[in-house]
Amino acid sequence: MKCAWVLLFVLVELLHQMACEQSYVVSNEKLEPFDGESDTLVRFDSLKTIGRERALNGSFTFLGDMSNDDFKVSVELYSSPNGDGDFKRMVMDVPQTSICECFKKFYVQFVQPSLKQGETTNFPIVDEDTCPIPEGTYYIKNVLFNTEDWPQQVPRGIVKAIITFWSGGKNVGGLIVVVKIEDRQS
Ligand SMILES: *[C@@H]1O[C@H](CO)[C@@H](O)[C@H](O)[C@H]1NC(C)=O
Repeated sequence: MKCAWVLLFVLVELLHQMACEQSYVVSNEKLEPFDGESDTLVRFDSLKTIGRERALNGSFTFLGDMSNDDFKVSVELYSSPNGDGDFKRMVMDVPQTSICECFKKFYVQFVQPSLKQGETTNFPIVDEDTCPIPEGTYYIKNVLFNTEDWPQQVPRGIVKAIITFWSGGKNVGGLIVVVKIEDRQS
């Protein structure tokens, strides 16, 4: 009887893992910070990929509080299906979106699940009430992407995201993230 319980437990665990595991693996290829047009208010130049697994590590700085009225973020996505650097614009772009909305929608889905507040980052947990996005220098320690909450359908190959921060309609800096997306080998 006890054995049956253990077996059931193992089965449930297995099913759970299968349901959560994406059919793809995402690895960091490159991080490339860029400056703003005249002012740079976000700095990602201390963020690096480290080790064989290319984990994210380092720190980033927001030079002032970023209010929802003034600050916006846009994300342009490009895909190179063969990984040969021949990039095509994807249709899933994020147009300039007020910064707090952007963090609530995209940071919460794509980045926050990979972080453990107080352990792998000191950036505050973003929820419904997070606004403005607070000034500060924040660390990220040895983080790999957790893709559990990512969409099931993503293009394979190389994907480049150009994340631009805007204030008063001007580009105030950002980050280009290049990742490789491959089928999971089972
Ligand atoms: C990782 O980042 C921290 C700062 O957040 C830094 O002190 C440490 O040296 C970095 N590690 C490597 C291997 O670059």
